[in-house]
Amino acid sequence: MSTPTRIETTAEDIARYPFPLPERQYRYSTNVEPAGGRVETAAGAWGQLCIDIDRHFPAESAERAAILAADPTRHACLPHMIAAAWDAMLFILRELAEGYPERMSLTRDGQVYHWRNTDLGIDRNFVFGDAASLPTDPLSFVCAQIQEDVVLLDQRDGTLFADAGVVTFAADWSFGFDVGMSFLEIHGPVPRIHEERVITRAHDFLMRLAPGESYRRTNWTLTVDGKLDTSTEVYPEWGRDRRTLAEGPLAEVGERLYLRTEVQHLIRLPNSGAIMFLIRTYLLPFRAVATVPEWGERLHAVLAELPDDMADYKGLTRTRGPGLRWLSEFGGFGTAGTAGP
Ligand code: HEM
Repeated sequence: MSTPTRIETTAEDIARYPFPLPERQYRYSTNVEPAGGRVETAAGAWGQLCIDIDRHFPAESAERAAILAADPTRHACLPHMIAAAWDAMLFILRELAEGYPERMSLTRDGQVYHWRNTDLGIDRNFVFGDAASLPTDPLSFVCAQIQEDVVLLDQRDGTLFADAGVVTFAADWSFGFDVGMSFLEIHGPVPRIHEERVITRAHDFLMRLAPGESYRRTNWTLTVDGKLDTSTEVYPEWGRDRRTLAEGPLAEVGERLYLRTEVQHLIRLPNSGAIMFLIRTYLLPFRAVATVPEWGERLHAVLAELPDDMADYKGLTRTRGPGLRWLSEFGGFGTAGTAGP
């Protein structure tokens, strides 16, 4: 599949960007907080809505549709997760209606729901749980109207299992491979978290979430050329970008290297009891990061200090050196002594 070119970054993208580095040093932690609060940043704010539609929606939803058509394994719903998929759909439609009341609405008359999404020209009735009342399955229906990736986890025998979802924008992992795996198995490859008990703590925390409760966290990495789909399945299409960036002119790094933030929501669905994990990916080129001095300085400090095992796991071994050099030469961030690898 050919990779779409990312549209030009604007001041609005910078103002809405969820800058993910709160400290000058980054380590893994169970960094969760209640969802929904507005977070002020050096350039603007983010975080008021759990489902965030922005100006990239048309391009991202077209890309999602093309990925799903080319590779059906990006979508799965094990048979016992059908109720959770309906639950997830209804939860998301409600959030959309609440967040975008001028453009979307969800009303109910007895058994029949009426959903309107004027952005997409959707205006239809459906009956909760009745497959024949929707044009597609509930996860496909709702994921065509949002930019978030969705994973649904079933809780049984004291464990969470990732048993359903639509994931088209994975950062260096494979949803198709992970489907049916437990939360602890999925996190198996992540360094440090086992000794530091980050994942067992996160697991205990998620198992205790009450129906309707929602939390969020962020994660981050670097991505070359603004590609959203850097899943394991298409590694041949993006793997070499890291080398071409490292071997290419330093002047191009500001345009080619992106700071990638994932805003992740963790929600206990009210009817099925499943956990919904939403992953919303935001990309900002280094050139744009550097327009906000606090961000440029922080990114330089974090990349320079990040231990090698974490940099390796995040896939930054080739790109952090050029990233650091670009930040110091073109942005004036960091000092000669902290230029890093
Ligand atoms: C509080 C909850 C969670 C915490 C603290 C957490 C923590 C982490 C951390 C620290 C990483 C490594 C990221 C990096 O180095 O860039 C990671 C990776 C990952 N997480 Fe989570 N996570 C949480 C929830 C979830 C949930 C609910 C899922 C759903 C299935 C999930 C799926 C993944 C996947 C697929 C990876 C990549 C693993 C790989 O390399 O194959 N996480 N997580």
